[in-house]
Amino acid sequence: MRSFDPKSVPKPPNGQAFDWSATQDPVVLEIGCGNGMHPLQFAKANPTTSVIAIEQTQNKFEAFEKRIAASGPIENLFAIRADAIWWCAHNLNSPACLEQIFLLYPNPNPKESQANKRFHNMPFMGFLLQFLKPGGQLHLASNISAYVEEAKTQFVSTWDLTLREEKLLNSNREPRTAFEKKYLERGETCKNLIFEKK
Ligand SMILES: C[S@@+](CC[C@H](N)C(=O)[O-])C[C@H]1O[C@@H](n2cnc3c(N)ncnc32)[C@H](O)[C@@H]1O
Repeated sequence: MRSFDPKSVPKPPNGQAFDWSATQDPVVLEIGCGNGMHPLQFAKANPTTSVIAIEQTQNKFEAFEKRIAASGPIENLFAIRADAIWWCAHNLNSPACLEQIFLLYPNPNPKESQANKRFHNMPFMGFLLQFLKPGGQLHLASNISAYVEEAKTQFVSTWDLTLREEKLLNSNREPRTAFEKKYLERGETCKNLIFEKK
């Protein structure tokens, strides 16, 4: 696997540096949070954890902002509209600063030609995992079993994480995200995996 060079990721013209002084340990990062249902709920349930939630798509991010506005200010939630690869490349700089990383229903990029766009296959993942604390966890959920199997192999064999939990989610469960709700309502099988850094 090639290595990831954060300096090779161009900075967008309006890309501002993140103010880490506003956060406090522990810090949790969610990539591709959609309308923000999970990070909002997680931040409320864990008021002493700083939750950085990144979404790149404008309409999803607007829905996230509306959700935040409706619930009132949540000081430990940092909603960021950006490409997470860009954001991480330019803002993650102190090693082992993340307690948990959430990748909940990432775009599956199902075509064979898109395999290199799946997060677990990207050199970026090696860079990102440098910032996960030893003992820190990465949570992955998907409704696509081939994606789950490929991700499991990559996270364990290539990225040297330990699989701690593999759970089937069923419709009795309160959904954490908009996509989880949609898939469970359709009767699809969703899986949640928790990996741990050694
Ligand atoms: C299938 S949706 C899931 C959204 C949400 N996690 C949920 O479960 O409802 C995947 C989301 O990831 C976002 N996304 C994909 N690649 C991204 C990236 N590089 N940076 C930020 N967001 C990204 C997409 O815009 C999309 O909203």
